[in-house]
Amino acid sequence: MNKITAAITAVGGYVPETKLTNADLEKMVETNDEWIRTRTGISERRILKEPGKASSDLGTGAVMDIIQKKNLDPKEIDCIICATVTPDMLFPATANIISYNVGANNAFGFDLNAACSGFLFALTTGASFIESGRYKKVIVVGADKMSSIVDYTDRTTCVLFGDASGAVLLEPSTDENGILDSLLKSDGVGKNYLYQKAGGSLNPASIETVTRKEHFIFQDGQPVFKYAVKGMADVSAELLERNNLTGNDIAWLVPHQANLRIIDATANRMGLTKEKVMINIQKYGNTTAATIPLCLWEWEKQLHKGDKIVLAAFGGGFTWGATLIKWAYDSK
Ligand code: UT7
Repeated sequence: MNKITAAITAVGGYVPETKLTNADLEKMVETNDEWIRTRTGISERRILKEPGKASSDLGTGAVMDIIQKKNLDPKEIDCIICATVTPDMLFPATANIISYNVGANNAFGFDLNAACSGFLFALTTGASFIESGRYKKVIVVGADKMSSIVDYTDRTTCVLFGDASGAVLLEPSTDENGILDSLLKSDGVGKNYLYQKAGGSLNPASIETVTRKEHFIFQDGQPVFKYAVKGMADVSAELLERNNLTGNDIAWLVPHQANLRIIDATANRMGLTKEKVMINIQKYGNTTAATIPLCLWEWEKQLHKGDKIVLAAFGGGFTWGATLIKWAYDSK
């Protein structure tokens, strides 16, 4: 019998309606549209504004999209893995709340935190569950309400991030489609350059941590940029090489959307032209764990059965990686 692979058989997405444009940010901090666009590629991002709404609401939107598209009985879902750095609460897991919201009451679920590489790490984990033969329907969802940890008086970070969610359904395949290979890496040196200082066991919340603004995201942009350019390009090139592929064999690169310049460097290193690179950073900014599935969601109709696709990410931790997929379906 052929080996079982984990195929993506559906993609869902959800973006909140409210737009925060570069022009809006110009009124909030000392910045300008030209700086933001030339340094990052971002023009606007979406913000989940309604009080009482959280990452689970974003994730629920993306998972419901899959359930409706596939006409899926939620009770058939075996597992939901949610990649996020902005869980609704430290516990219970946001995945459990999403499962409850969509009626997936036979599913087990958990959150996975690998920052901007979270979706890739969760995808590889979910794929292993399918490959083992034990589970038949696993949903991997990336959901981040980044606006909940962004300091809108800090121009170095508030222009970068947005809120969104994307999800994929994984099912077994025996015709060699699906997730073919994954190369994941992490290095704790990153803890000095990109972090949220307080709210965990090291610096529990206190009046002082709030006053010092330690519950917001901090990024030392330049070192992160240098690590990201090298990390994402190296790992993508290594993935191609160990699968005896060149850029010519690849239909699409689906890069994490943190900075257009990092995306360009990765595409160049892989020998890919711009037409083969999914880019929507201009509309959504950096949505952390949601960027990659959100691209798949937007480009779904242009993907064809048999297309070889590389997903690549770099994020806090540091974490980074690349995944090779043979796309399993033509969308109707
Ligand atoms: O997704 C997780 C991983 N994260 C990343 O991959 C992000 C990696 N880093 C980056 O993408 C870039 O470093 C940034 C986009 C964050 C920043 O771009 P940069 O080209 O590295 O700029 P910089 O931090 O070196 O700042 C250049 C100048 C500084 O002014 P001076 O010191 O030269 O006078 C900043 O103060 O730009 C200034 N600046 C701004 N000016 C206008 C910083 N933020 C802004 C702003 N508007 N929003």
